[in-house]
Amino acid sequence: MLTAKAVAHSNIALCKYWGKRHGAAAELNLPATSSLSLTLDALWTETEVGPAIEGQDSFVLDGTEHHDDAARKVFAHLDRLYRLASGAPRPPCRVRSVNHLPTAAGLASSASGFAALTVAAAAAFGVAVDRTGLSSLARMGSGSAARSLWGGFVRLDRGIRPDGSDCVARPLLPPEHWDLRLVVVQTTAAKKPIGSTAGMERSRTTSPYYNAWIETSESDLDGAERALADRDLPALGRIVEHSCFKMHACMLASDPAILYWNGTTVEVVREVIALRSRGLRGYVTIDAGPHVKVLCMAADAEPLARNLRDVPGVIATQVCAPGPDAHSEVLA
Ligand code: DP6
Repeated sequence: MLTAKAVAHSNIALCKYWGKRHGAAAELNLPATSSLSLTLDALWTETEVGPAIEGQDSFVLDGTEHHDDAARKVFAHLDRLYRLASGAPRPPCRVRSVNHLPTAAGLASSASGFAALTVAAAAAFGVAVDRTGLSSLARMGSGSAARSLWGGFVRLDRGIRPDGSDCVARPLLPPEHWDLRLVVVQTTAAKKPIGSTAGMERSRTTSPYYNAWIETSESDLDGAERALADRDLPALGRIVEHSCFKMHACMLASDPAILYWNGTTVEVVREVIALRSRGLRGYVTIDAGPHVKVLCMAADAEPLARNLRDVPGVIATQVCAPGPDAHSEVLA
């Protein structure tokens, strides 16, 4: 085994993934909806994978050694990758990971985290697959991670084949296609109440809106792809907000309800809508957490961020531009 380092950037879903394909092997982690994302330059994870120094697996995240579920998921993912490279049992590994994400909890790190882990481990173990193959492997760690293999605008197709072979991500357009920005508005430092994987299962089994959410999501992607190609922000923004609010309606109709928002989340959404009527064109999206992300043109990003920073309860804002592909480097 070699030692390799990888960098993968986080992504924001413009058309959301919420729900797993029912009846498929859990190991494959196949999504029930296709999704479309923008990779972000300012948020990324850097991960190094190499042989263990003290003869046992170790996972150090942001300087702290972890022995929790997160660590177990990391080592299970390494097992999966090592099986592909060699039939032999996996030797103990040392994984060191640093999240270059704002410090407040609730900003997705699983997308960049599992993408960086996959790319670093594949280089360290000598897994001979192309970027599409790496993306499918990253998906098994976390669905959103499949999209972080590429920069710019990326589509992950849910596929229909039972073996998942047509559930693949592909780059739609490079970062330079369109000078968009995403303003990340942090509304709390508290941890989120329920993780995505458990939340999706609760929605599938209890939300009466779940099927409607799944059935209407494909046409959102087609519309978003067209708006992207045409660089039509109002058309894209409308679909982005519709996808986001449908997903949250499905979450809210789960039993017990899944409510990721706080009061500040709502105030920020209202302010974005108010600013839009005053000519600052921003469009909101919200993931499995309370923070609001605002899609806009580059020229509107700073004025939007300044206004949103003044909403009571907002902790910080950060402007992200379209980001690059994930990449790795062999160190030793
Ligand atoms: C709301 O990729 O974190 O951010 O596959 O269970 O790890 P798992 O889920 P994850 O879910 C992301 C959900 C979302 C929407 C999205 O990113 O598409």
